[in-house]
Amino acid sequence: ISLKPYNTFGIDVKAKHFVSINNIEDLKDILNLSEYPEKLIIGGGSNILLTQDFKGLVVHINIKGINIVSEDEDSVIIKANAGENWHEFVLYCINKGYGGVENLSLIPGNVGTAPIQNIGAYGVELKDTFVSCEAISIESLSLQSFAKTDCNFDYRNSIFKQEAKNKYIITSVNFKLTKKNHKLNINYGAISSELEAMQISHPTIKTISEAVINIRQSKLPNPKEIGNSGSFFKNPVISKTHYNTLIKNFEELPCYRVSDDLVKVPAGWLIEKAGFKGKRFGDYGVHKKQALVLVNYGNANGTDILNLSRLIQKTVKRLFDISIEAEVNIL
Ligand code: EPU
Repeated sequence: ISLKPYNTFGIDVKAKHFVSINNIEDLKDILNLSEYPEKLIIGGGSNILLTQDFKGLVVHINIKGINIVSEDEDSVIIKANAGENWHEFVLYCINKGYGGVENLSLIPGNVGTAPIQNIGAYGVELKDTFVSCEAISIESLSLQSFAKTDCNFDYRNSIFKQEAKNKYIITSVNFKLTKKNHKLNINYGAISSELEAMQISHPTIKTISEAVINIRQSKLPNPKEIGNSGSFFKNPVISKTHYNTLIKNFEELPCYRVSDDLVKVPAGWLIEKAGFKGKRFGDYGVHKKQALVLVNYGNANGTDILNLSRLIQKTVKRLFDISIEAEVNIL
């Protein structure tokens, strides 16, 4: 079958075998099948670039359900199963008046894959509301619980991209959300200016979500219209010394403090300066409004996009002596 509907890049590769799973028992049974030694687990498909057909079994995690684990006057613990669409989960929380994930509105993908790269946007990361997750060990088939401290969350990183990579399948995530006295995050420049443009002086979780949706819709391509995986690269961290050398030639290069000696610089800025923003090569290219996003205009193949990403990496390295690392998983 074609995997095109199962990856937001919209790459048309074929899988020899495919199964969509909606409960943990079936998932265990499938993982136990020895006739398919090669398995590829797909959640929302929003962080992968598929470059070739897959001979093994694709397991699509489609376990649904959201329920309240416990609550008191101030907060609630919510368990969301892995196959829930992330943005629908955010909207569910906002409708119920639960605060904490509103800045993460409209991020593509599913709940179960959100912890892997600790999704983040506009000053908030998944880890800020994450309590724990359950995951099946692919080897032992036991269901294990990971507390927040087990997960080693960092910028676009977690244990599931490091030592636990390809060893577990996350089946559900527990979040702690506020029912009142919400801790609103409006410090990110783009949010405060959007709220101002919306003429909102007393923001709520709902209006913050709307502001984030407006910003994302104005900058980021909708995967339903133009295939993409959000930011293709991570924002690199460089030494302050290196930064100080760079600004002699590039005085407008933005930076965000990481520590006394380190700063993070926006990869989108570097890629734009390298001349790639809006560049189109046939059916693939670099998004017009956000240079960090590579796009598939229709029938691009994954290898073309991978090669473009390598050309971008080489050019950025040559111009700025900075290595930018892919955020997307290449398969
Ligand atoms: N910039 C440019 N040119 C561009 C794009 C950005 O000069 O083409 C500059 C902007 O002017 C700004 C800076 O880069 O000074 C930052 O831009 P922006 O606010 O758009 O954020 P970003 O650093 O490019 C990160 C995340 C996004 C997230 C936004 C908002 C990463 C890899 N990406 O992008 O996440 O939505 O911040 O918080 O950290 C994603 O991971 O898929 C994603 C979209």
